[in-house]
Amino acid sequence: MKGTQGILVAAVLAASAQGAQAETPLERGAYLMNSIVACGNCHTPQGPEGPLPGRELAGGTPFDEVPFTAYASNVTPDRATGIGEWTDEQIGTAIREGRRPDGSLIGPPMPVPFYRAMSDGDLAAITAYLRSVPPVSNEVPPSEYRIPLPASYGPPVGGVPDVPRDDRLRYGAYLASIGHCLECHTPMTPEGPDHARAGAGGMAFNGPWGVSVSANITQDPVTGLGTWTDEEIKTAITRGMRPDGTRLMPPMGFGYYANMTDDDLDALVAWVRTLAPVRHAVR
Ligand code: HEC
Ligand code: HEC
Repeated sequence: MKGTQGILVAAVLAASAQGAQAETPLERGAYLMNSIVACGNCHTPQGPEGPLPGRELAGGTPFDEVPFTAYASNVTPDRATGIGEWTDEQIGTAIREGRRPDGSLIGPPMPVPFYRAMSDGDLAAITAYLRSVPPVSNEVPPSEYRIPLPASYGPPVGGVPDVPRDDRLRYGAYLASIGHCLECHTPMTPEGPDHARAGAGGMAFNGPWGVSVSANITQDPVTGLGTWTDEEIKTAITRGMRPDGTRLMPPMGFGYYANMTDDDLDALVAWVRTLAPVRHAVR
């Protein structure tokens, strides 16, 4: 993490150490965006050294898959090429319902189904953060979908209350949803994600790194994380390193997850422990 973003995160982490009560929406948004939510993992262009400086959330990263060639949008406040003209409500509808102000649907891999669980407070916090980043002029090509997009991602979301942070299990599941862990870690079938085997991994990701295959993060002791300690799971999530010292490949956003508070990491690991064991060897 570099420049002003790093300074902001440091200030936020110092503020959150003083207690959640003192947090402003912008501080909460900065914390979420630079840790578990990590929109920048898709929306900030990356070079070999990580996120490109001065280009936070400027978009353009291609996702070249069989069903689509999608380009992450410019979500900076630039008026001409970003979302600077959108109202807060329009930004919220785009994130939680996947619909743009012109009525068109935002396609995959934007994890809209997972963002439907986002609380009103966190949505407002993330919107405040989106408004605070410097506008970057960057025209992104339109995505191409070779599959039909659904008519919608579901009925209007309405209001979503905050999940109490001291309810560790529920809050951990909430963090896993807004962090869309299962989007990458659930086996894909021609009919869609195999929810009965949630967390069993096996999805392949192509990129400059070659091909990585998402891990089985269920509690299976042989092919999953059943025998890993909490510390080992945290090291994998925040530093991209397995217990045997080998490194994990992208696209998981380790650099962002490294900024999670200890409490949030504890809650996330408590959620990982609830994933029913599925025997499924992915490597
Ligand atoms: C896994 C990658 C991924 C993640 C994570 C992701 N997005 Fe996206 N997002 C995309 C892609 C790809 C598109 C373009 C889809 C299309 O062209 O239909 C997009 C489109 C958008 C748009 C529509 C912009 C426009 O001008 O049409 C908004 C707004 C947006 N994302 C905001 C966010 C926010 C805020 C987050 C985090 C809460 C986020 N995205 C997380 C991949 C992602
Ligand atoms: C954008 C896709 C993506 C997202 C989102 C993602 N992961 Fe991963 N994850 C991967 C891939 C791919 C690997 C395997 C990388 C490799 O083998 O080099 C992995 C590996 C792991 C591992 C290491 C397990 C092992 O056996 O090596 C753990 C633990 C893990 N992920 C947990 C999580 C959790 C918890 C979340 C949500 C906070 C999450 N992941 C979000 C793609 C993702």
